[in-house]
Amino acid sequence: APRRKKVYEGKAKILYEGPEPGTLVQYFKDDATAFNAQKKATIEGKGVLNNRLSEFFMTGLTNIGVPNHFIRRINMREQLIRQVEIVPLEVIVRNFAAGSLAKRLGLEEGTPLPRPIVEYSYKNDELGDPMVSEEYIIAFGWANQQDLDDIVSLALRVNDFLSGVFFGVGIKLIDFKIEIGRIWDGDFMRLIVADEISPDSCRLWDVKTGQKLDKDVFRRDLGNLTDAYTEVARRLGVLPSAP
Ligand code: C5P
Repeated sequence: APRRKKVYEGKAKILYEGPEPGTLVQYFKDDATAFNAQKKATIEGKGVLNNRLSEFFMTGLTNIGVPNHFIRRINMREQLIRQVEIVPLEVIVRNFAAGSLAKRLGLEEGTPLPRPIVEYSYKNDELGDPMVSEEYIIAFGWANQQDLDDIVSLALRVNDFLSGVFFGVGIKLIDFKIEIGRIWDGDFMRLIVADEISPDSCRLWDVKTGQKLDKDVFRRDLGNLTDAYTEVARRLGVLPSAP
């Protein structure tokens, strides 16, 4: 019998009720999906790596004052997080053209962008997470203008932090996705970084060789995904061993 009550199950993670009100336990599965779950596989060890890597990035963000949901790691696959109300947006930051941007604008992957670009998708599996503008977001009430200002500020602070950390270990941060949550202190609402930060939600290229060290390895059948994530963890000094 499960020892915790399941609150939500997504493609790569499960959320369980936490030990205290306002907390959840986030469990990292080994499942990988791509192209809106049309491509699926179980990747031995991915959950353990992403649990450790998300801990590493969120802890680093806490240290530089970027608010996020991470409280502490519990074991190899689980971490304690703050319960948030997820803003139904995927917030994407891009430093170099790749993926859907490269395709949309006919740019060669790896082309440097004139400045970091923040864009949004509406989180909806049935629709395949369509890209949306700030106008859509405000008109449909997913966030207001103040929220959007705060979201852009959080996204750019995360980008500065992650870009620096990765560059320090010979990795270019091409782009990444974060999710944002709302928390309340009485009537006062704050936005914090939620979900996860891992090679599942970033594009990471080796500075020297251009080798891909992220989920594109799985999406594009470029090799062993666990090996790629292990290399990222090794360079960052994040060693997935017993708790
Ligand atoms: O596919 P696209 O180029 O728009 O992806 C931009 C970035 O957002 C990539 O790093 C990708 O891994 C991430 N992403 C994600 N989850 C999605 C869509 C994109 O983590 N559902």
